[in-house]
Amino acid sequence: MKIDDKANPYRYMADEARYDNMQYRRCGKSGILLPLISLGLWHNFGFIDTVNKARNITRKAFDHGITHFDLANNYGPPFGSAEETFGIILEKDLGYYRHELFISTKAGFDMWDGPYGNFGSRKYLITSLDQSLKRMGLEYVDLFYHHRPDPYTPLEETMLALDQIVRSGKALYVGISNYDAERTEQASKILDELKTPFIIHQARYSLFDRWVENGLLDTLEKYGKGMIAFSPLAQGMLTDRYLDGIPEDSRAGKEMTYLDKRQVLQKIDNVKALNNIALSRGQKLSQMALSWILKDKRVSSVLVGVSSEVQIVENVKAINNLEFSDAEIEQINKILSGQ
Ligand SMILES: NC(=O)c1ccc[n+]([C@@H]2O[C@H](COP(=O)([O-])OP(=O)(O)OC[C@H]3O[C@@H](n4cnc5c(N)ncnc54)[C@H](OP(=O)(O)O)[C@@H]3O)[C@@H](O)[C@H]2O)c1
Repeated sequence: MKIDDKANPYRYMADEARYDNMQYRRCGKSGILLPLISLGLWHNFGFIDTVNKARNITRKAFDHGITHFDLANNYGPPFGSAEETFGIILEKDLGYYRHELFISTKAGFDMWDGPYGNFGSRKYLITSLDQSLKRMGLEYVDLFYHHRPDPYTPLEETMLALDQIVRSGKALYVGISNYDAERTEQASKILDELKTPFIIHQARYSLFDRWVENGLLDTLEKYGKGMIAFSPLAQGMLTDRYLDGIPEDSRAGKEMTYLDKRQVLQKIDNVKALNNIALSRGQKLSQMALSWILKDKRVSSVLVGVSSEVQIVENVKAINNLEFSDAEIEQINKILSGQ
């Protein structure tokens, strides 16, 4: 099936109203606008999942104005399989709209055996992106990230590799992820001097993990970079998923994930208290958790994961209520500080 065949009656046709309700926010001082809600493919897009479900989720996301899809070389399992699944989705559904999409991938964590398959060498980053492009069937990605800081490789080497990646046309923009404020400042200085289009930092940020408020957000603002918040729902804990126990099909209920039952149970009292505030605002807890991050205009987008179409539709509705009263903020802070 040719994906550019307009007359093909079986081709996925995106909803014509897809841009009517989504809001877009400028990413730092760059030319790029990101949807307030972006979709991450860390979970639910590997070979252990079904392609049909993955296709339905991404189509639903795009139909609601989500233009940004985030991947990494090692998403799956197994490593690489989320990119392969996304390649199928592009071929069958979204490829026709490639020019409307903002696709990112990353390298930095363990990917292949031997000395060149992780961290931040020029060898690893450039080789890994070549592999990612093949898996997704793309000529370029919109954004390529260094996924985590490397304590061993000189920062200049990693940054020059990002610069070369852009100059060779394999990525339009670059970003960093999981860097602390100090290293972010150093990276900005190097990349700005090279005039490399470094536009964004991807950092964990949620009601349960506020480390970015201690310097990183200020540094990013100072250098005109955007910030995209990953795991904004604390992997599902900041939702109604666990209010009545741990469902078997939830992330904490499954094997081989980074969220275990113990973590969920430790937080459940806070979750219940936060849930009451959300309900009083006319939101689901998941929606309030996203709105709470987005109230800070320095955050360009929240990067959610979902296991169903229903969840992505619900999450998009978070943008309908981004205002918090002082009293609500105070109540939330009290709960989080255990008072
Ligand atoms: N740069 C990095 O180092 C890094 C690290 C982690 C993640 N990321 C990126 O961030 C993305 C998101 O991370 P994440 O998946 O941990 O994010 P998250 O949004 O905090 O958690 C996603 C999980 O929350 C649950 N959920 C989502 N919407 C829901 C709703 N409306 N109602 C009830 N439950 C809901 C689902 O859990 P169930 O599966 O239980 O339904 C879903 O799998 C990743 O895909 C990846 O792109 C980056």
